[in-house]
Amino acid sequence: SVSRPTDLVVFGGTGDLSMRKLLPSLYLLDRDGHLDGSTRIIAVSRDGLTDADLRDKAASAVRGHQAVQVTEPDVLARFLERLSHITVDVGGDASGWADLVAALTPDRDRVFYLAVPPMISGGICRGLSDAGLVTPESRVVMEKPLGRDLASSQEVNDEVGAIFTERQIYRIDHYLGKETVQNLLVLRFANVFLEPLWNSRWIDHVQITAAETVGVGGRRGYYDGSGAMRDMVQNHLLQLLCLTAMEPPANYDREAVRDEKLKVLQSLRPLTGDQVIEDTVRGQYGGGVVQGTEVSGYLDEPGGSPASTTETFVALRAEVANWRWAGVPFYLRTGKRLGHSRSEIVIRFREVPHTIFPGTNSLPGAGSLVISLQPDEGIHLTMLAKTPGAGALRLRPVPLELSFADTFATRSPEAYERLLMDVLAGDSTLFMRRDEVEAAWRWVDPIIEAWNGLSTTPETYPAGSAGPAGAHRLIGRTGRTWHEEE
Ligand code: BG6
Repeated sequence: SVSRPTDLVVFGGTGDLSMRKLLPSLYLLDRDGHLDGSTRIIAVSRDGLTDADLRDKAASAVRGHQAVQVTEPDVLARFLERLSHITVDVGGDASGWADLVAALTPDRDRVFYLAVPPMISGGICRGLSDAGLVTPESRVVMEKPLGRDLASSQEVNDEVGAIFTERQIYRIDHYLGKETVQNLLVLRFANVFLEPLWNSRWIDHVQITAAETVGVGGRRGYYDGSGAMRDMVQNHLLQLLCLTAMEPPANYDREAVRDEKLKVLQSLRPLTGDQVIEDTVRGQYGGGVVQGTEVSGYLDEPGGSPASTTETFVALRAEVANWRWAGVPFYLRTGKRLGHSRSEIVIRFREVPHTIFPGTNSLPGAGSLVISLQPDEGIHLTMLAKTPGAGALRLRPVPLELSFADTFATRSPEAYERLLMDVLAGDSTLFMRRDEVEAAWRWVDPIIEAWNGLSTTPETYPAGSAGPAGAHRLIGRTGRTWHEEE
């Protein structure tokens, strides 16, 4: 499909997100024929770049992106032609806004992408409205962080909501743009065999992991005020939990899907007080070796306080207190500077109610479904099979695997390609509604508050390890283990 002719205005258009994700993804959409010929990309910043400067910067960003691989010179030239730069000092003098007005085409779809810190989102929306740029067809895209707690999130939502209606607002959670995440919905709701098992009767527990080898790099300034809970759990991990736990929606429609996700968030059993100590673990990476390279600890990363107690790792036990899931633990875990990069959802099925093959019931890894988001996208089901041979009957867990790379010989699009395409098409199914974001904060806030009241600090774990020992105790206290330890 090809998008409608659109003026895409990116605030923060020369920044990190724009260069690392947005422009390379737009290039790929253009290359694959998804952008209408007259669609234009207008980068807005305070940098005072010329169009030529911006195009140079964009060209190297596109060339340097791992998903691009080969840059086709004609396609790149056509893509760069779409780009222009406007200098606007948001909150400063009005001349920049007038330049933006002049740069936009009347009567055409407008998408305003706010790749900026949330504090200035409201000011930009007011500026757009004062300049008369907001039309009923306009859309606005917001990036995380969407606040740092419920109150600040409501504030940003109010400010943006004063100018744009909820239908015009697209809140990005890029995990929802990942291929396997959408495939999870297909797996659950387009096949008949899993759904009858998808409940507390047959599922023992669920693990959702997003493990990264990267540290905070140059983002210490942002990260110190955030931590893994706000950076990963409040959004990405809870969204994965929602898709795993939600009821089948009536159709694949923006409101139907988001209504069901919201109900999951509202069903999360609150974690407060002593329960927080019981059911959560915080860690912070120390120095160590990650995949052969020596790296420094969090406190030695430049740009932050040497005494910071910011968590770079969280593991917790959540429970969805409803009819389908009561009593099933959802173990969530994320961390930086771990030994391996791996994001996955693991569904661990219960043992058979009665085994006729003694001694085989609790073989490690038997009866699990792994939905792997990265590095390899795939779905792996482990089941027990008989080992060939005429001797004693022996069972062994064997994999039933679907590798997306092997099955579909096409490239999986980047999360941002999918999401940008959806914004251009006006489809907000894979974006977060205001009530979802706020319900997530409602659950997360008391946990962070409880942590702040504790005299203990996050447990240090060596970079390159599997995280703090506390994470193993958390899952181990009921005799369970993390997937990779099976
Ligand atoms: C971002 C976080 O939202 O997601 C980063 O701010 C994190 O800290 C990133 O590294 C992970 O995304 P992905 O797609 O690499 O798993």
